[in-house]
Amino acid sequence: MADQTYDYDVLVIGAGPGGYVAAIRAAQLGLKTACAESRETLGGTCLNVGCIPSKALLHGSELFEEAEDGVLAKWGIKAEKVSLDLDALHGEKAKAVTELTGGIEYLFKKNKVTWLKGHARFTDAHTVEVNGETVTAKDIVIATGSSVTPLPGVEIDNEQGVVVDSTGALALAKVPDHLVVIGGGVIGLELGSVWRRLGAKVTVVEFLDQLLPGMDDEVRKEAGKLFKKQGMELRLSTKVTGVSVNGSKATVSVEPAAGGDGETLEADCVLVAIGRKPNTEGLGLDAIGLETSQRGQIETDHDFRTKTDGVWAIGDVIPGPMLAHKAEDEGIAVAENIAGQTGIVNHAVIPSVVYTMPEFAGVGVTEEAARETGKAVKVGKFPMMANSRAKTNRDTDGFAKVIADAETDRVLGVWIVSSLAGTMIAEAALAMEFGATSEDIAYTCHAHPTHSEALKEAAMAVQGKPIHI
Ligand code: FAD
Ligand code: NAI
Repeated sequence: MADQTYDYDVLVIGAGPGGYVAAIRAAQLGLKTACAESRETLGGTCLNVGCIPSKALLHGSELFEEAEDGVLAKWGIKAEKVSLDLDALHGEKAKAVTELTGGIEYLFKKNKVTWLKGHARFTDAHTVEVNGETVTAKDIVIATGSSVTPLPGVEIDNEQGVVVDSTGALALAKVPDHLVVIGGGVIGLELGSVWRRLGAKVTVVEFLDQLLPGMDDEVRKEAGKLFKKQGMELRLSTKVTGVSVNGSKATVSVEPAAGGDGETLEADCVLVAIGRKPNTEGLGLDAIGLETSQRGQIETDHDFRTKTDGVWAIGDVIPGPMLAHKAEDEGIAVAENIAGQTGIVNHAVIPSVVYTMPEFAGVGVTEEAARETGKAVKVGKFPMMANSRAKTNRDTDGFAKVIADAETDRVLGVWIVSSLAGTMIAEAALAMEFGATSEDIAYTCHAHPTHSEALKEAAMAVQGKPIHI
């Protein structure tokens, strides 16, 4: 039964993977729930301009490359005169987005979650204004997500399509001749891969000396090798000092990160992908006495409570990896905590995946981080080259790597580079969630022939006893 003092038991601000999941779970738990969302469609960054459209373009461009580069021909499939209909590709992407965002609308109706269409702003800890209307709730969850970090002095214009962010790069009207990507992180490599496969020359400018910060060093090195082999030009340890636009062309000024002589790169599209920042502007945090951290994030305790009574926060707007599945799990946990249950997210076991070809995935700590703790660690590695299914499919790039505590054998981290790494990493996450040892994985029967056997063999390699190498 709803508390009559308030319009709703729970009001969630933002309908991304964090917010929509929190709203649905709160409603499932019998709480009268509303969700404010200012976009035209539900699903947040992930469904509208993130995970989903990027994966659609990755899938389509992979098919195109397989047909064009003779991969199909190698298997006897002659797809002659392959050509690209970019509008059709964008159309298929749009269909996936529409179906999935519409699916969330259906789930809201089914679970009786009220969608308040518009931008929400706090007036006090139990009250927000949405579209000029005042709405009250006993508990309010901030799930406002994140948006692109701008590069000072570089103006993004997605309409014009010369200097774009990820949203613009998901919708380019033509394949650029030369795409310069600023930032060798997840977005830069995924969307860089899309446009390279579709025919662009792609140059990635990365400030650090390796791609994919946060991942295991061996994985980062492998990524450098593989993307170079695929034809991307990598300018590591290089910083961008400015971008100027002249009509449909851009000039990107770069110089060594450590300082030194600068040079310029000519491009007809520049993608700025240097990270994302939490969305808190215009939310009225001052009205509820909440401040953001130096990094612009809202701090919470373990239960996702902010310092202000009755106000909670989850997803990209709080610390931790900016990932949809992390936001979703926090959405479930926060709703359960509001309902008086015990909602927990194990932040030590959140997988991350880069959906390129091959995919790069990891869960738990990197080998470097494990060694830095001073604990003795054992590492087992197995190359995809020795995995029978990968060999059969002619897709042998990559490896699986298991990092275990040398004393207890408990698995501390798993890293996988493989065409199916994103799917394979789920097993590692499950094993770690259950506190598995490397021996537990090694003695678990894995179907043959599968890429997953590489993970089993890497676990066997922790004890020095892999079979197939
Ligand atoms: P968001 O999804 O950002 O949703 C927040 C919502 O709140 C938005 O819809 C916004 O309009 C709304 N909002 C904000 N302020 C207000 C307000 N005051 N009133 C009303 N509404 C408001 N993650 C993965 O795990 N896998 C991937 O493959 C992946 N791919 C990505 C690809 C790209 C190109 C990008 C940009 C991101 C990708 N991400 C991916 C990251 C993922 O999208 C985010 O981690 C995830 O969307 C965060 O969820 P969230 O609910 O915290 O916020
Ligand atoms: P990122 O943090 O992954 O990478 C940004 C890169 O830009 C870093 O390597 C950084 O060193 C570099 N950089 C920063 N400033 C620079 C400069 N001035 N010049 C050159 N390089 C510079 O951020 P990205 O790629 O923008 O993605 C944002 C977030 O979106 C990520 O945190 C990720 O969690 C999420 N995301 C997740 C995906 C997935 O799970 N598959 C896909 C896409 C995004």
